Amino acid sequence: MKERIEQIVNSAKERINKIEDLQELQELKVRLLGKKSELSDLLKGLGTVAKEERPKIGSLVNEARQELEEKIGTAEKKLKEKVMNQKLEKEKIDITAPSTKITRGSKHPINRVIEEIQDIFVSMGYDVVDGPELETDEFCFERLNLPKGHPARDMQDSFYITDEYLLRTQTSSVQARTMLGNENKTPIRMICIGKTYRKEDDATHSHQFNQVEGLVVDYKEKNISLADLKGTLEVFMKKMLGENTELRFRPSYFPFTEPSYEVDVTCFKCGGKGCSLCKKTGWIELLGSGMVHPKVLEMNGYDPERYSGFAFGTGIDRLAMFKYGITDMRYLYTNDVRFLKQFDRKDNNF
Ligand code: DAH
Repeated sequence: MKERIEQIVNSAKERINKIEDLQELQELKVRLLGKKSELSDLLKGLGTVAKEERPKIGSLVNEARQELEEKIGTAEKKLKEKVMNQKLEKEKIDITAPSTKITRGSKHPINRVIEEIQDIFVSMGYDVVDGPELETDEFCFERLNLPKGHPARDMQDSFYITDEYLLRTQTSSVQARTMLGNENKTPIRMICIGKTYRKEDDATHSHQFNQVEGLVVDYKEKNISLADLKGTLEVFMKKMLGENTELRFRPSYFPFTEPSYEVDVTCFKCGGKGCSLCKKTGWIELLGSGMVHPKVLEMNGYDPERYSGFAFGTGIDRLAMFKYGITDMRYLYTNDVRFLKQFDRKDNNF
């Protein structure tokens, strides 16, 4: 019997030595020491052994069990260590390896222009105000002297959400909001910059674009005149596009101003000589402007007998295109890093 036990122990040891995996070791442990193991079978068969032999064999089996338990314990420890070492090896951090390059983003050209415009007008004492992009027909058109059915509405292909709500086609809506919202009817000097939407899409038009709107209203005694409008826009354009920029005022029509002007600036590309960009005219049409229409003042709570003012509006995307020589408006919206990178640190605006 003793030999049999030794045999079991020896073959068990051999098997334990060959195991390379913790899971397998666990399974082997059950096979060697569990209820169905050979050693357990020996104990179960003690009944057939002579009485005086029983304690001896019992203790031999127990010793064998203990020996195997220890052996398995050591093997387990070794395997765990091995696993840990493998893990450590794999997760080793090489502090001498080159780091991943972190590239810094840059300000979008439109945001550059927006900030520049805000700076120019804040320095002249204007407030910067905001208005909703989802606008009512009333504020986008009616309160600006563009009643339903007015032909000038056709120039602004609109995205209507319901009969009454649309995505604003012009920031001029904020003129009406500012006048109506100013309960004490104090003088106004504001610009509003924001997104506007029209149903158009080509190299020089996008269905979403940005506008800046300006509105000045003051008491009649202040004699706000076209000269003030002209002076203001001259400062604006010279600062934006360069001191040599000239302005040309052409009579035009907008329902919310009277008289109305379209303002052209000297072509920044050819300096006014005439080139493909300005279609050989030397001028580029940039702004809409005029003296605030008395009806608009009246509709929004400002008595035209007591107040007068001027307004202007222009597209910021177009301005950014001219300022930076961008040929396709869609570049401004496609987030191509190769395009955006070119504006990095331009103007030292950081
Ligand atoms: N809102 C006009 C447009 O989008 C631009 C404009 C023209 C704004 C004349 C004005 C203005 O404030 O007085 O075409």
